[in-house]
Amino acid sequence: MRNLFGYMFCMLLFACGGSSDSGQSATQSAPAAPKDDGKGIGEITEVALNDPLDQEMVARGQEIYDLKCSACHKLTGQRVVGPGFLGVTERRKPEWIMNMITNTDAMLEKDPQAQALLEECLTRMPNQNVALNEARDILEFFLSNDQSKK
Ligand code: HEC
Repeated sequence: MRNLFGYMFCMLLFACGGSSDSGQSATQSAPAAPKDDGKGIGEITEVALNDPLDQEMVARGQEIYDLKCSACHKLTGQRVVGPGFLGVTERRKPEWIMNMITNTDAMLEKDPQAQALLEECLTRMPNQNVALNEARDILEFFLSNDQSKK
């Protein structure tokens, strides 16, 4: 147990102290940032959505969620370590969601919405090593989760 607490303590220091400080000084010295389009920072600039949803992608997305995300995120609105995923496709653009999954560190350092989340949470989301096509499957799964609970 002692080791676990020690580890968590380090994570807190890293998440709440160092990173937000360096983020702030970077913002102050940088030239005016381009207008935020809500799509986040990363490779994904445009996502074409499927209508109806592709159920094979949903199933693959669920598998990745079970394996890599469910320890910190529930499918309801309840926060555990990270926010619950219910409604995530309504509060964020699809591009933002995929950038958050595949480019987590840069998002937490530079994207205003991701930074606001980091300020609320006591933990920094670790990079999950998710490929672009896997992130697209996860997005399909999120859309399915939100549609099923309407
Ligand atoms: C170790 C815990 C942890 C794991 C594992 C994790 N996340 Fe996160 N996630 C967080 C935290 C904490 C936040 C809030 C931002 C922050 O504080 O870094 C977050 C935020 C998010 C957000 C933004 C949610 C919103 O309401 O806007 C998305 C999307 C997301 N994570 C997707 C994922 C996906 C997909 C996986 C699995 C591939 C995953 N996360 C794995 C901790 C985690």
